[in-house]
Amino acid sequence: MFFDVHKIRADFPILSREVHGHPLVYLDNAATTQKTRRVLEKITEVYTTANGNVHRGVHSLSQAATNLFEASRETVRRFINAASINEIVFTKGTTEAINLVASSFCSSQCGEGDEVLITAMEHHSNIVPWQLQRERMGIQLKVAPISPAGELLMGELEKLISGKTKLIAVTHVSNVLGTINPVGEIVKIARQHGVPVLIDAAQSVPHTRVDVQALDCDFLTFSAHKVYGPTGVGVLYAKEEWLNALPPYQGGGEMIESVTFEETTYNRSPFKFEAGTPDYVGIAAFGTALDYLTAIGLERIERYEKELLDYATERLLAIPGLRIIGTAKEKSSVVSFLVEGIHPYDLGTLLDGMGIAVRTGHHCAEPLMHTLGIDGTLRASFAFYNTREEVDRLAEGIERIVKMF
Ligand code: ALA
Repeated sequence: MFFDVHKIRADFPILSREVHGHPLVYLDNAATTQKTRRVLEKITEVYTTANGNVHRGVHSLSQAATNLFEASRETVRRFINAASINEIVFTKGTTEAINLVASSFCSSQCGEGDEVLITAMEHHSNIVPWQLQRERMGIQLKVAPISPAGELLMGELEKLISGKTKLIAVTHVSNVLGTINPVGEIVKIARQHGVPVLIDAAQSVPHTRVDVQALDCDFLTFSAHKVYGPTGVGVLYAKEEWLNALPPYQGGGEMIESVTFEETTYNRSPFKFEAGTPDYVGIAAFGTALDYLTAIGLERIERYEKELLDYATERLLAIPGLRIIGTAKEKSSVVSFLVEGIHPYDLGTLLDGMGIAVRTGHHCAEPLMHTLGIDGTLRASFAFYNTREEVDRLAEGIERIVKMF
């Protein structure tokens, strides 16, 4: 054992509750993660001791809130090794961060017929924002194909880069297949063609060390709630030159330098992209969540989760009629599967009756489902607080349901 998982579990109050009379087995971590007591306490602490609107007041509460808010920006910077805090924009989440880039990038850098290259395994949040720009700006969307195992066909991806390609937007880890894409290699290829890269890191940041300077990506997005932090908070990392070059996404307070009815000048980055009152309480608690992960160590988390993934894969494959969807060589701790003769929705509902939470459906990746020729899957996604016993509960639960059918 790399670390004491039972000690870790004690930090997450929700993990000790029961569902339908059974101890909860929470295996929907790719959808959202659970929160430590310290994160929950931080939210109460800010509201009870330091609640004042950030960057707006000379009074003590506003200054205390601003200090906590900016301290979290530095925590995020350190966590992903950005060169400067000016490169960290707080958003509502990954979805808003990608929409921000799609809107600001396409309106300033793209013309009719220019292309954005994505992959067949993207989440809707890295498809639809570009389709909106296709309607508005007349850009074209190109889609790099995948193999039956769920691996990106790198040769095909490179062939799709043309003189018109303005941006490559790719997920680091597929939320359905668990595939870890070779994003470092994609950035290298893109550089040879002079094309910038956006990485959707929503499913990778919780599981592995992500270093934006080592990756040399132009944009990277992720959500706090998938990294054991609060909902409604996320990050856009962008190289400072991009943030300086791109126009604002939304207008309002905070993002301005001066406003008259005739003309407005904008604040510097990152504030230029942070119109309106942010969720500074959530952002303070987000910093607490990242500190918690850092204290455990991303490398230890990755090793432990890999072991859990291997065990779950072995255990599930032993169930007659069960087929794993997504068998890439490099995988994160996600297992999607189908069981012959049982609809994923029925299986998911019956598992819930046993206290086991998994996700069912298309997982916000309908085009991927079409590519795979299926309607949906069941998905078990693991966190570092999950145990081998919980994997056993899942496998035994499915075995019981298979017998019932
Ligand atoms: N994107 C999240 C998931 O995969 C919601 O479940």
